[in-house]
Amino acid sequence: MRKIAVYDFGSQYSQLIVRRFRELGYYAELLPPSAPFPSDGVAAVLSGGPASVYDESAPFPHSSLFESDIPILGICYGLQLITYLLGGKVAPSTRKEYGPADLKVLEENHLFRGLPKRFRVWMSHGDRVEVLPNGFEVLAHTEGSPYAAIHGRGRFFGVQFHPEVSHTEYGREILKNFADFSGLQRFWTPQNVVNMLEKEIKRKVGEDRVLLALSGGVDSTVLGYLLKRAIPGQAVFVFVDTGLLRWGERERVKRLFPEVRILDARERFLKALRGVIHPEEKRKTIGRIFVEVFSEFAESLQPKPRFLAQGTLYPDVIESVSVVGPSAIIKTHHNVGGLPEDLGFELLEPFRYLFKDEVRAVGRSMGLPNEIIERHPFPGPGLAVRIIGEVTPKRLKRVRLADRIVEEEVRKSGLYDKVWQAFAVLVPVRTVGVQGDYRTEGEVIAVRIVESLDGMTADWSRIPHDVLRRISERITGEVPGINRVVYDITSKPPGTIEWE
Ligand code: XMP
Repeated sequence: MRKIAVYDFGSQYSQLIVRRFRELGYYAELLPPSAPFPSDGVAAVLSGGPASVYDESAPFPHSSLFESDIPILGICYGLQLITYLLGGKVAPSTRKEYGPADLKVLEENHLFRGLPKRFRVWMSHGDRVEVLPNGFEVLAHTEGSPYAAIHGRGRFFGVQFHPEVSHTEYGREILKNFADFSGLQRFWTPQNVVNMLEKEIKRKVGEDRVLLALSGGVDSTVLGYLLKRAIPGQAVFVFVDTGLLRWGERERVKRLFPEVRILDARERFLKALRGVIHPEEKRKTIGRIFVEVFSEFAESLQPKPRFLAQGTLYPDVIESVSVVGPSAIIKTHHNVGGLPEDLGFELLEPFRYLFKDEVRAVGRSMGLPNEIIERHPFPGPGLAVRIIGEVTPKRLKRVRLADRIVEEEVRKSGLYDKVWQAFAVLVPVRTVGVQGDYRTEGEVIAVRIVESLDGMTADWSRIPHDVLRRISERITGEVPGINRVVYDITSKPPGTIEWE
């Protein structure tokens, strides 16, 4: 597919560059720094990165890039690479620029077409360009960077600032101008993506059958809908009821997929979790039982479907290949749905080139209701990691009821779509209270509501006090065994979002 190839030199914003192009309708993919230029590429972007072009281990692009005649845009380190490799000079700045800077445009050129002469941009660099290569001109400068934007030899563009971050005014317009210069068409729309995915699934699956485990989450739900459309009647849907799910989950899945096969494994999970207190052991136990239940079911299917569909997303794919790249990525979690490879299926992963927001757009374009599309993330091991200490039926009931109340009240207040997650955690602390005329002893519910862009970092939400009050009143009033509610005011880092 014709695309912009974005080379990842290790900037924390590399994925963002790809997302921005796609939001604008231009298809882009992220590649490791030394990858050759793809035969279907129409332009390249060199991302920022932590290295200095003079470092011994500085990553350089593949020679095919500079030997071709495609347009190239260098961002930050990318601009320095272009300068250095084409004979200019890069040196450490006397004044490092971090944060906002005032950009003055000297030459409109293609890159700044239609933009004002001055605007605010976002900088983050130690080195800067000192001497331009032959055949280059300066397009814009800031106080700290005399060459904040450059253009040369027809096809090379470079910016010292980061057009991909939202703090850069007109950043999107700059990326759009570059993409237009490359001649790429804007075909990356949700409708087109749905059509392409459908075609691809039909082509790959043919007349065979596909097995999909639904979890109630956004990815597997959208994938299920897509399979129904692309290969009607050929998909087998299965839902493992672990007993560790949110209120009403099983019924919700059943409503959306009336044909789903439900595997009631609640007893089995509870039994395996008896006496398990350590968080990692809990996760492992749940993962193990899930695989057992799922495999037994898969084995029992006659004839066995040829494919297993999974909602793997692009960031997972990038993470697993980026070991070759310099970008230091912390892999956080493996989902419980992470099934072993030896189940004897061929994998079908239609979303492996999509970001989460694109999966949502695909779902929306197929007419799925917002309530499903905008659902908060939920950990694979479920409520078990929100029950500190042992998982018992009584404690599961407490946390599930409390969780439902938190969700309902946050929805009622109109804040659901504004926060990343909102949930309840059961804390095994004996606490004294008075309820009615009685002195009670109960457990504590901690309410956790956080704002985040990607779950990697998060801040606790400054939720209005009256919403917290309603949550607290309802939990102490409606959940047996709870007589105290606290609000978690820890950001991530140092805390994690979940308590376990
Ligand atoms: P933490 O707690 O590490 O969580 O700050 C970050 C995001 O990941 C979710 N999470 C999980 N998701 N399996 C998952 O699929 C897990 O074991 C798991 N643990 C945490 C968490 O809800 C948050 O959105």
